[in-house]
Amino acid sequence: MSDTPRAVPGVLQIAPYQQGKSKIGERLPRYKLSANESAFGTPPAAVDAYESIRDLLHRYPDGNQADLREAIADVYGLEADQIVCGNGSEEIIGLTIRCFMDAGDELLLSENFFGVCALYAMSVGAKVVTAPEKHFVTDVDALLARVTDRTRVVILANPNNPTGTYVAPAEIERLHQGLPSNVVLLLDGAYAEYVTAPDYDAGAELVERSENVVMTRSFSKMFGLAGLRIGWCYAPPGIVGVLQRLRVPFNANAAAMAAAAEAVRDQAWVERVRDHNARWLARISEELTRLGVRVVPSVANFYLIVFDDCDGKSAAGAAGALEAEGIIPRPVGAGGGDGHDVLRITVGDDDANRAVLDVLQRYLTA
Ligand SMILES: Cc1ncc(COP(=O)(O)O)c(C=O)c1O
Repeated sequence: MSDTPRAVPGVLQIAPYQQGKSKIGERLPRYKLSANESAFGTPPAAVDAYESIRDLLHRYPDGNQADLREAIADVYGLEADQIVCGNGSEEIIGLTIRCFMDAGDELLLSENFFGVCALYAMSVGAKVVTAPEKHFVTDVDALLARVTDRTRVVILANPNNPTGTYVAPAEIERLHQGLPSNVVLLLDGAYAEYVTAPDYDAGAELVERSENVVMTRSFSKMFGLAGLRIGWCYAPPGIVGVLQRLRVPFNANAAAMAAAAEAVRDQAWVERVRDHNARWLARISEELTRLGVRVVPSVANFYLIVFDDCDGKSAAGAAGALEAEGIIPRPVGAGGGDGHDVLRITVGDDDANRAVLDVLQRYLTA
C-alpha cells in the first residue's frame, strides 16, 4: 500500500497567510492603503545603494552582516555585536519562536496580534494564548495573569497592529518584572520610527540590562524597503548566540543590506515622514470623529476605525465605498474577541489621505 508524505501536525493547522489586497478586481488601485507601506517610497540614497549592487549579483552577501549592523549600531547607539539582521523582522520573530519553543509550550500574545507570530508557534506544535485588551490597548495585567509554567515567549508589538496603540515604558517594565526569567519577552517595534509620543521607548535599554528581552525592528515601513525584505533585532549576547545557530548564513541579501545601511543613516527622512504622519493622524482622527465614528488613538502609520453602533454604517460598507473610488483599505479581524466592526487604513500621502476623508465623509453622511 502506498502512502503519501505527511506534514507535521502543527503545520497542517496553519491557514495560508492572506496578504493585503493589491488590486481591485483586475485594476491597480489609485491608493493602496492596505499593508502599512511607506507613503513616500524609499530614501534616495538607499535606492542608489540598491542599484550599486547590480555588478555584484554573482557574489554571496556578507553572512556576517557587518556593514548593516555597524550602520544600525552607529545611528541608534547600540552594540553591533548584539544585532542580528533577517529577511524582514518576521524572520527574526520566527527564529526566536523556533529557537525557544517546543511542542506543548505556550506563546503569549495580546488579543490583537500580528498573525505571523501564531503561524510559527503552531508550526512547532506550541499553543497560542491570548490576553484581552482594554480599549484596544495591550493590558499588562491580563498578560501576566495568563503566564503559566509552559509560557516560553511573550510578544508585544509596540505600537501594535492593527490597533496602532502603544504601551509606555513603565508598563513594559512591569511586564518584564512579572515574567519568569526563562521567558523571552519580544518587543516588536516594526512601527517604532513613527512614534512621536514623548513617553514611548522601543526597548533597546531594557535589552541591554536583561538577559531575556529581544527588540525587533523593520525596514519595511518607515524606510520603504518592504519589497527587499530586511529587518533586525537587538538582543542580549546569550540570545544572539542562540539565534545565530538557526539563522541561515545568507538570510539577508546583499541588495537589501546595502539599501538598508543607507536608509537608516537618513534620519532627516525619518523626521520628515514622521512629521507628515503625525500631522495626518491628528487630522484624520479629528475629522472622522466629527463624522460619528471612533478612531482608535494611533501612534503608527495606520489607524483603526471602529464602526460599532454606527447606525447602519459598517466597516464592510466603508471598504466598499473606498474601493469604488480606487482606494484599498485593510479589513481586519474584529479587533479582539468581542467582535468589533473595524477597518484599518494606512496613512498615505496628502492626496491619498484627502481622498479617504472625502469618500468616508460621503459614505458616513449619506
Ligand atoms: C506588528 C508587525 N510586526 C512585524 C511585521 C513584519 O515586518 P517585516 O516586513 O519587517 O517582516 C509587521 C508587518 O506588517 C507588523 O505589522
